[in-house]
Amino acid sequence: MKFLMHCYEQYCFPWILKYVDRAVIDDRKQTLAKVQGRVLEIGIGTGSSVPWYPENLTEVVGIEPCGALLDDCAKAVERVQQRTGGGTRFTLSVADAQALPFPDNSFDTVVAFLVFCTIPDPYKAAQEAFRVLKSGGRMVFFEHVRSDRPTLAKWQRRSNPVWKVLGCGCHLDRDTRAVLAEAGFRFEEFRFEHKISVMPLVSPIIQGVAVKP
Ligand SMILES: C[S@@+](CC[C@H](N)C(=O)[O-])C[C@H]1O[C@@H](n2cnc3c(N)ncnc32)[C@H](O)[C@@H]1O
Repeated sequence: MKFLMHCYEQYCFPWILKYVDRAVIDDRKQTLAKVQGRVLEIGIGTGSSVPWYPENLTEVVGIEPCGALLDDCAKAVERVQQRTGGGTRFTLSVADAQALPFPDNSFDTVVAFLVFCTIPDPYKAAQEAFRVLKSGGRMVFFEHVRSDRPTLAKWQRRSNPVWKVLGCGCHLDRDTRAVLAEAGFRFEEFRFEHKISVMPLVSPIIQGVAVKP
């Protein structure tokens, strides 16, 4: 069973991420257009965000606990740098968003794109993102969350056990707005909607900008 899960995570999950990416490509472009300065993306995965970063950033640091996904991400960086002939510098490392290997106040922007659903302790990750941001620094986020519609929320809760296996730890019913607020973030922009372009269980989406005061 362990071997099967390993194969699934290494070979199947990256394809699922690429499929999901197509459904949210416009949201990703809009989210990444808001970044500036030195940027940290937590859970960068296969690097779906990489082509959409502006070219004038100080640096983009991408962290990801899964080495196989990060290998794909490195290839995405290579492709972008070949196309642009350099541009923004990317630094990738295997690391955990719950214990970031960076000093306090060291980033201008943190990017969280479909990641708080999967991090085992989202409260710890939000505290860490808050810690490494400079004062006035911003987290730009796009996350699927628990629905405010009771019937859909019930099906999210019921589907969680199977979904967690298929989604390599993904939870359907997290309240990520509360997680970010508890870490101390203030919302500069916030939007909640049910996106009809994605499957119902993951259709409740929050997106926006959260600031470290
Ligand atoms: C649904 S995928 C999204 C990947 C990527 N952000 C994207 O938009 O394509 C969730 C990601 O969270 C990562 N992840 C899981 N636990 C994590 C942790 N403790 N710290 C950082 N990332 C984590 C997974 O490895 C995976 O890459």
